Amino acid sequence: MATDDLRRLEAQALEQLQQCSDEAALRAWNTHYFGDNGLMKAAFGKLKEIPKEQKAAFGAEANRVKAALTEAYEKALAAAKERALQISLTTNPLDVTLPGRMPRRGRLHPATQILRQIYAIFADLGFQIYRTREVETDAMNFEYLNMPAHHPARDMWDTFFTTTPNVVLRTHTSPGQIHVMRAAAGRPIRVILPGMCYRNEAISTRSEIQFYQVEGLVVGEGVTMADLKGTITAFARRMFGPDRQVRIRSSYFPFTEPSIEVDIDWPHDDPNRDRLTKGTGWLEILGAGMVHPNVLRAGGYDPQKVTGFAFGMGPQRMLMLQHAIDDIRLFWQNDLRFLQQF
Ligand code: DAH
Repeated sequence: MATDDLRRLEAQALEQLQQCSDEAALRAWNTHYFGDNGLMKAAFGKLKEIPKEQKAAFGAEANRVKAALTEAYEKALAAAKERALQISLTTNPLDVTLPGRMPRRGRLHPATQILRQIYAIFADLGFQIYRTREVETDAMNFEYLNMPAHHPARDMWDTFFTTTPNVVLRTHTSPGQIHVMRAAAGRPIRVILPGMCYRNEAISTRSEIQFYQVEGLVVGEGVTMADLKGTITAFARRMFGPDRQVRIRSSYFPFTEPSIEVDIDWPHDDPNRDRLTKGTGWLEILGAGMVHPNVLRAGGYDPQKVTGFAFGMGPQRMLMLQHAIDDIRLFWQNDLRFLQQF
């Protein structure tokens, strides 16, 4: 190989470069000449076979050819990129003055919003949040809550049974009371237990098969009905307004004795007042009572030493009251027209 061969290689390479019409072809050309197995590399490899006296001239020429080809390649590559850009600008013009597309904003489900309001109020009152399971044994859902098998009060809850004997979907959050007492193992308790409950009901505007409840439980020495009343009153005023009056009616639940239901007076300036309160002006917000001795015992507490109060409320019901929503089915239908209002 001699310097002439280098010039022929150069001429051939430049001619082929001319024929490359786009970036991909150029890159292939580059590999062909400058890749690891490329022709230029091979040419440099020949250097050792060249007679000593021609080496310097050959080397210099090889370097010149390499530099010339590299320069030509880079120019051609830049030109090809520019051409491609021009083509894309003219065939697919982009109007940078168009307004952007607004991202869709998500929001919390109204049920989540009211749950968080409830958590915040009870957190301020010194309550902790304790979560328990949605699938329960019959014993937890009924028996330890002072309803042995065949107790008539079981009919208060239309129950979903599972295919596993004695395993049910919890019909209320009250079984959480037993879990929390057993976990607290004799220490004082002040918790709320929020969560989903399930009832085997015909779905209608007024009843759903799944819904949230928030249970409350306070256990300790000297806990009284007055503490229950004070707690509920503080909660009602934070939740529904500072002027709310709390009314207590006697009631029945197997797991509390005495048992009460709590109403609040509904604001007089609400145009829905009559309809919501069926003309009475009072609205029920929860069930509550002093924890039954049998329930304390089931939780491992000694009813001779401690007392407790408990309550259970329906946060979705409260939301319906606040916003005069008259169909409970709206909650889980995922209709954005409904959800976006909150
Ligand atoms: N578990 C009751 C229900 O689902 C609500 C309830 C009433 C809970 C009284 C309580 C309570 O803790 O003391 O209807």
